Amino acid sequence: MATIISGRELSKTKKANMTLQVEKLENKYGRRPKLSVILVGDDPGSVSYVTGKEKACHEIGIINQTIRLPEKTSQEELLNVINDLNNDPLVDGILIQLPLPKQINQIFVINSINPTKDVDGFHPENVASLYLKQPGIVPCTPKGIIEVLDSVNIPIEGKRAVVIGRSNIVGLPVAKLLCDRNATITIAHSKTKNLKEVCLNADIIIAAVGKAKFITADMVSEGTVVIDVGVNRDPETGKLCGDVDFVNVEPKASYITKVPGGIGPMTISCLMENTIECFLKHMEVK
Ligand code: GUN
Repeated sequence: MATIISGRELSKTKKANMTLQVEKLENKYGRRPKLSVILVGDDPGSVSYVTGKEKACHEIGIINQTIRLPEKTSQEELLNVINDLNNDPLVDGILIQLPLPKQINQIFVINSINPTKDVDGFHPENVASLYLKQPGIVPCTPKGIIEVLDSVNIPIEGKRAVVIGRSNIVGLPVAKLLCDRNATITIAHSKTKNLKEVCLNADIIIAAVGKAKFITADMVSEGTVVIDVGVNRDPETGKLCGDVDFVNVEPKASYITKVPGGIGPMTISCLMENTIECFLKHMEVK
């Protein structure tokens, strides 16, 4: 039987602390942090993420602006909107919901965000800071994963951590954060041979593949820590499910996170934290 680490509970505590912090910041600086989210099109997954962000801002007292643009928006139009937000002194954080429609080059768009407003930590300047261990904005999901591990004092140093998935958003940055904490890292992906053996040798598995119930019980050794980053639809039930076959893996794991209620809420609370961090940076330079 595993201990289930509740990201939902942990983020409730984090949000309560941030609510107090935001109130104090308003007293001190005369305004609250502001997050602007841009949503292009109406992909149901993206719409639901954006709604979650709006709700969290509302709870904490961060000012939220969601700019909804039609699916057919051109790259130039989007870059103009970003430029206006970059130049608006009352906007602290800018988040462009990904993925973007085909006509828009994601790299151009990310590169156009002012790095001091890049709450996702996706701008090359923030990516470089992460890799060089310099101060910068750390991507939300990887940050949330480390906080989940730390919340129950799971040792990371010297442990074998297997990260499955090599995306810029989760896989690569979480591998870097685990490496910085002195874990021995394996980054596995679709071309990895003998994934089952790789996983059986892990002390910590971070599943960020994007495939429903991909990590099965035969891939997990007794006592492994299993962190599930997946957000998928169960093909049988249509319900939200992770990358891990939770029912069968949970009895073997020592610690495990659930979907929903695991890493998802942590991503949102870390986003709120990054927005406050950007606000503080902007206040310092004034
Ligand atoms: N789409 C899926 N995850 C993310 C994320 O962390 N940030 C943004 N901007 N878009 C996403």
